[in-house]
Amino acid sequence: MVQEVQLGANVLIWFSITLISDNGVPAISGGPNRSCVTSVQARLDSLGFDDVAHLISIGGWDAAHPNTSIASGTEWWSVFETWNQGSFDGIDWDLEGNDNLQSPYNTLQVSTLQLIEKMSDAAKRAGAIVTLVPPQSYFDTTETSFETSLTLTYADWQPNFTYRGRNAYAPLVAWNSTLYDLIDVQLYESWSRTSQTLEEYEADPADYLFDLVVNLTTSYTVNFGEYPQLGLGDGSHNLSLPADKLILGFSRGSASQPGKSPFIAPQDVNRAYRRLGALQPRGCMLWNANLDGGTCWLNNGSVMPACNFVATWNSYLNIRP
Ligand SMILES: *[C@@H]1O[C@H](CO)[C@@H](O)[C@H](O)[C@H]1NC(C)=O
Ligand SMILES: *[C@@H]1O[C@H](CO)[C@@H](O)[C@H](O)[C@H]1NC(C)=O
Ligand SMILES: *[C@@H]1O[C@H](CO)[C@@H](O)[C@H](O)[C@H]1NC(C)=O
Ligand SMILES: *[C@@H]1O[C@H](CO)[C@@H](O)[C@H](O)[C@H]1NC(C)=O
Ligand SMILES: *[C@@H]1O[C@H](CO)[C@@H](O)[C@H](O)[C@H]1NC(C)=O
Ligand SMILES: *[C@@H]1O[C@H](CO)[C@@H](O)[C@H](O)[C@H]1NC(C)=O
Repeated sequence: MVQEVQLGANVLIWFSITLISDNGVPAISGGPNRSCVTSVQARLDSLGFDDVAHLISIGGWDAAHPNTSIASGTEWWSVFETWNQGSFDGIDWDLEGNDNLQSPYNTLQVSTLQLIEKMSDAAKRAGAIVTLVPPQSYFDTTETSFETSLTLTYADWQPNFTYRGRNAYAPLVAWNSTLYDLIDVQLYESWSRTSQTLEEYEADPADYLFDLVVNLTTSYTVNFGEYPQLGLGDGSHNLSLPADKLILGFSRGSASQPGKSPFIAPQDVNRAYRRLGALQPRGCMLWNANLDGGTCWLNNGSVMPACNFVATWNSYLNIRP
């Protein structure tokens, strides 16, 4: 962690907690070893890196979604503050699906989205940072409709992959985008539209990122008319984000099935950045910090032994000298 910050990282998202009922009492389960967090923070502060934002992720793949019947969003925020004791500067919403196709957490319920909004609002009022980290299909510029299911498929790309969403996070942005400081799109979702464009259509990654960022910042619209309970009417909503809220999320690729988690070299991100000018996203994210500098697997199956994401991103994002 300390080395990643020295190389350029200025946001660390620690993994992860869930909001559960403990015999009828709202409780927070999981979370990293707190004395490790405290000691990393103290070390960073002593090195002059007190600008780093430390967030805690809520959710993750296979995790329970928050219990919406036991406490309101505002009440969950006070439960969180008691648990947090000032350790983290904010929360990162990472609710996702579940390997078990029968799991109730393969639906991102409207009530859960409402809880996210209310808890985020309480967090903002308390001065905390709030971020979203949707897999690409949960926040998808190529899709103009919305579904709560997280077990959809694409007919035209890897149709056997059954864990797609359809703009599941989009109501949050339609309701109140000012609540979210950063929106970090996981382009490395398994068999994402990014993987299809790079692998099936053999696009230049820089051209693809340019196209995607232009759409995310200027022409992303979704119609929520199939779900009147969202209160968003039946017209299209313009969800285009200010570029300074947008983060592009990357991974080191996939060893067992090349291209499943698409790989984009940091040098290709730089080519897109230079062309984007005023539409340059706020930054980049890597899943995950421990893997930086290690092996990457390219989409064609070849191997890159020392893959330095953060240092290369920093060479053009200029977070640290
Ligand atoms: C939420 O908590 C209540 C109270 O303990 C419990 O009855 C309910 O089953 C929980 N909901 C879920 C989805 O676990
Ligand atoms: C928690 O972190 C502290 C400080 O880094 C370490 O000494 C301790 O062994 C860790 N505890 C566990 C259970 O890993
Ligand atoms: C998809 O699943 C079917 C049925 O199991 C199988 O026959 C087919 O080969 C699979 N296709 C791919 C692309 O994996
Ligand atoms: C959106 O959130 C901001 C920040 O908490 C708040 O000031 C504003 O009133 C909210 N807007 C609406 C329409 O709820
Ligand atoms: C961007 O928008 C254009 C025009 O609607 C569309 O053809 C293209 O597929 C979109 N690309 C992405 C990555 O969203
Ligand atoms: C959506 O909003 C963005 C940012 O304010 C703006 O640039 C764009 O023209 C709008 N797009 C549509 C389709 O209204």
